[in-house]
Amino acid sequence: MTRWLVTGGAGFIGSNFVRMLLRERPDAEIVNVDLLTYAGNLENLADVEGDPRLRFVRGDVAATETWAAEARGPWDFVVHFAAESHVDRSIEDPVTFLRTNVTGTQRMLDFARAEGCGTYVQVGTDEVYGTLAPEDPSFTIDSPIRPNSPYAASKAAADLLARAAWRTHGLRVVTTRCSNNYGPYQFPEKFLPLMITNAMADLPLPVYGDGLQVRDWLHVDDHNRAILLAAERGRAGAVYNIGGHDGERTNLAMLRDILSILGKPESLIRHVEDRKGHDRRYSIDSSVIRAELGWEPTVTLEEGLPALVEWYRSHRAWWDRVKSGAYRGYYEKMYGARLGGGGSPAR
Ligand code: NAD
Ligand code: TYD
Repeated sequence: MTRWLVTGGAGFIGSNFVRMLLRERPDAEIVNVDLLTYAGNLENLADVEGDPRLRFVRGDVAATETWAAEARGPWDFVVHFAAESHVDRSIEDPVTFLRTNVTGTQRMLDFARAEGCGTYVQVGTDEVYGTLAPEDPSFTIDSPIRPNSPYAASKAAADLLARAAWRTHGLRVVTTRCSNNYGPYQFPEKFLPLMITNAMADLPLPVYGDGLQVRDWLHVDDHNRAILLAAERGRAGAVYNIGGHDGERTNLAMLRDILSILGKPESLIRHVEDRKGHDRRYSIDSSVIRAELGWEPTVTLEEGLPALVEWYRSHRAWWDRVKSGAYRGYYEKMYGARLGGGGSPAR
């Protein structure tokens, strides 16, 4: 058996990662530690819930002592996804981001050392590099760290603490920095699921500012395949940028594609006040992970976007429950009486 401790496995990317591990690594035994904040939803894993190789522990990464007894090492891998992840919320409430993303990462690094850990993966974001002008070259791993939002700043701090744990204590740390992901089970406060579900319901589509901001979209499975490679074959201390599969699009271009796939009118688009400090463009140079680990993205936006819309069409029950808040009762119903779990209550 190969033992994986995954944090944030009830969120968007983490739940897709857990599913990939169960599918592609038959010897994987997984403990998923998640606090189940508003962004955590065990219904994201309902299809693999009965798998005996997967165990859930409700716990706060910033309070590892409250659940460590339920997740004893040694671990072959610790993959740290758990984070507060929404830029707009970080502008309103930065302290929660510091607690989870900064303190939580330090606690997870200490936990990994104390329990024993083969490789620790710090799941990071390209947003730590800040913003690009239209003609600038893509972010490389040597681009300066210049975060512009409290979210990005807290993730930059987390990356630097992970590096320090490698240099100071010799913990085998590998850090990834990925561009914007899309795929199943993304919480509908983020751009694509918000727009798709609103458009399906003929609700307005709030576009920040002129809508000409550029993101470098990558399918979540391509991201997770890169994380798997980084965990199993990554170099200690390495940083791997992930993204850049012909995925650069303006927000408006993405919206027009979605509306045309759905057969909905562009009159649903509403330009609203811009986000404060809104990064204009992200673009990723992923040449290091391509050369070192042979990673290649496989899903183009041309195939990925229609498939995404189709997923939201066929999973209306899932997003109806998220949008209405009904998903909040699932954990209590399924696990409440059986599992202790640590940590502070979900927000
Ligand atoms: P998400 O918000 O969908 O999920 C986050 C998960 O972490 C949730 O299940 C939540 O309950 C859990 N969590 C939050 N605070 C916690 C705490 N204190 N203790 C334990 N669990 C806690 O986020 P996501 O989009 O899946 O992102 C996962 C990771 O990938 C994050 O570290 C994020 O910074 C990074 N990332 C995301 C993207 C993207 O496009 N979404 C791109 C690059 C990197
Ligand atoms: P988001 O999904 O929040 O990801 P990030 O800010 O981390 O890149 O937003 C993606 C882009 O979409 C970003 O440029 C902000 C924009 N956006 C809107 O125009 N309207 C919205 O309602 C949201 C949530 C985002």
